Amino acid sequence: MKSNIIEFEKFKIKTTKDVFSPRDDVEIFPKAIEALIKRKSKILELGTGTGAISISIAKYFKDITILATDINSSALRIAKQNAIINKVDQIIDFKKSNWFSDIKENKYDFIISNPPYLSKHNSIFYTELSDPENSLYAKNDGLDDIYKIIKDGVNYLNADGHIIIEHSHNQTLILKDYAKRFKLDLIKSEKDNSGFNRVSILSNRI
Ligand SMILES: C[S@@+](CC[C@H](N)C(=O)[O-])C[C@H]1O[C@@H](n2cnc3c(N)ncnc32)[C@H](O)[C@@H]1O
Repeated sequence: MKSNIIEFEKFKIKTTKDVFSPRDDVEIFPKAIEALIKRKSKILELGTGTGAISISIAKYFKDITILATDINSSALRIAKQNAIINKVDQIIDFKKSNWFSDIKENKYDFIISNPPYLSKHNSIFYTELSDPENSLYAKNDGLDDIYKIIKDGVNYLNADGHIIIEHSHNQTLILKDYAKRFKLDLIKSEKDNSGFNRVSILSNRI
């Protein structure tokens, strides 16, 4: 299949038509994690696509381990190639999983994700998007996958762990309220290049 290369500041990502193309805001994730990451931090990425977010983190921070997952086998294939191209394949492992379904009972310091979060009701506004449908849209006004990741994610977090999740700016308060039900506090929302809340950090610190 025909592939393209997208260049970021510290890395290059190969993409194909059957996998979500990473956007500029990928690098919000290493920024969000910077003040929190420690030596030997264990990171789980859900819905890695081309691997861009995990690769961006592996390029910024050493002495960490990452497990990157996706439900899409084509995504995992290209993500593994991208990890090799960027020489971070020793840091990132890959696994096929429907969100947490194939993740062993393990604890992580960070669970990170850019899940599908667009609402199908608004799809007329997104006609220019050519990414696979199941990488873009989630049920329940775009919130279904965000809810699943928060609800199940708490069981996979170490004490003083964080869920770092991308969302649309108008989902910020809903996400904050939902997270509270699971004793997670929204401690910060990082903004995208247009100044909108894009990635929120949830903490289980008491
Ligand atoms: C918005 S894309 C993000 C891809 C990549 N993390 C990035 O930011 O470039 C969402 C990703 O979630 C994956 N995904 C969708 N449903 C999933 C599920 N049930 N379990 C795991 N991954 C899923 C899609 O295949 C897609 O790669």
